[in-house]
Amino acid sequence: MKKQESSSVKTSEDKENLMDKIVSFAKRRGFVFQSSEIYGGFASCYDYGPLGVELKNNIKRQWWKSMVQMRNDVVGLDASILMHPKIWEASGHIESFTDPLVDCKDCKKRFRADHLLEAKGLKPGYLKEKPEAFSEIKCPECGGELTSPRTFNLLMKTHVGPVEDEASISFLRGETCQGIYANFENVKESMRLKIPFGIAQIGKAFRNEITPGNFIFRMREFEQMEMQFFVHPKEAKKCFDYWKPLRMKWYQDLGVKKSNLKFREHGRDELAHYAKEAWDIEYKYPFGGFNELAGIHNRGDWDLSRHSKFSGKDLSYFDAETKEKFMPYIIETSDGADRATLVFLLDAYEEIKGGRTTTTESIKDVEVVLRLDKRLAPIKIAILPLSKKPELEKAAREIQEKLRGEYMTMYDVTGSIGKRYRRQDEIGTPYCITIDFESLEDKKVTVRDRDTMKQDRIALKELAEYFADKFKE
Ligand code: GAP
Repeated sequence: MKKQESSSVKTSEDKENLMDKIVSFAKRRGFVFQSSEIYGGFASCYDYGPLGVELKNNIKRQWWKSMVQMRNDVVGLDASILMHPKIWEASGHIESFTDPLVDCKDCKKRFRADHLLEAKGLKPGYLKEKPEAFSEIKCPECGGELTSPRTFNLLMKTHVGPVEDEASISFLRGETCQGIYANFENVKESMRLKIPFGIAQIGKAFRNEITPGNFIFRMREFEQMEMQFFVHPKEAKKCFDYWKPLRMKWYQDLGVKKSNLKFREHGRDELAHYAKEAWDIEYKYPFGGFNELAGIHNRGDWDLSRHSKFSGKDLSYFDAETKEKFMPYIIETSDGADRATLVFLLDAYEEIKGGRTTTTESIKDVEVVLRLDKRLAPIKIAILPLSKKPELEKAAREIQEKLRGEYMTMYDVTGSIGKRYRRQDEIGTPYCITIDFESLEDKKVTVRDRDTMKQDRIALKELAEYFADKFKE
């Protein structure tokens, strides 16, 4: 096979419609599907396909590894989604978990008032300070007049039990961390923990978003990866300054380009009802530029004080050494598993015009390489027998059996080897193993690297060690 180098990277035009490309790519290659598509779709809900679920699981695994497995001061939890409805009173969500909503009087479209202000270059807090100025803003769809902003609660209501009355109302959790606060005592006592310590959790959250959109960026059902670190109030600032860069580093270490990430501090008028200080990690999305990816919040003693008051159980902490009793402050790191999935996909997606190599039998206009970090790649190793000859397939299946206990593998025997390499490049598979007729003689296989396209001839008996080294974390 003749190899020919080719050039070209993302053009500005490509970047503009990158989001459309990612949405169609995600469907075509089995990453993300619209929920209930056969019924015309269900707005703002998405399903993860065979490769998407692997990618998202790998992201969650990496988060758990860095936040729990590699630390002595953070433990895990998996609290239920449905909780006592008083939790949401105590947390302030029933009163304050609202967004300002406006409707267009002409086209009847619905918008978030703060988003319309932001689009005009005005700070979101502007709305609270000068509500009359909002009347100058027109419907971005049809130019029509908008209603005055009114608050809309984002909590999703449900009824628990067979009777649908006031007493049976509960909520699908609006943020995962409330289950952590409600279990503060249980975790502390059962694990004999002393402050400072953290509790981490991954799980679904639900919000009745007024304007969901941009694919898996803003959904009504999504997944959060949250860690709550409990500290002495005097240590809160130091603790915040410790976690803030660590969360940024996590995205960078997993390959997100530094130039696409930045911090943004929340203005005083923008802070959530529980927050004393809040910073977002922002990503440069193809829609509208920098926007929120994750958050780091100093929640002060809001949560434990409120839960103490509403539950009647004193959640303050007694330090046996100093004999001091205090209400711990909480430093929260909050990441969205879906938003992270979108960011890792966007950042890794690369189109190469003309392809990286051309072969006589397969010349392509655009070749896609998904340059995911190896730890995140859905498939780690593809097994590609050169042809369907039974002896090659037999040898290939044996190799797969040896590797699949350790790695997610994919077996592919259809199409030319060039096409098969490209299919794997497109889904981000770091390594392909080709088994050819020579392999049957010399007991060696060709291992091809996704990024460098370098091919190594490796003895079968050294294959396990070779990959152990390649995937060492
Ligand atoms: N416990 C704090 C909290 O929930 P947040 O800023 O509302 O803070 C944290 O949410 C993270 O959860 C966001 O940075 C984002 O990654 C993710 N997230 C929030 N709302 C989301 C939505 N509607 N769809 C997808 N992800 C969302």
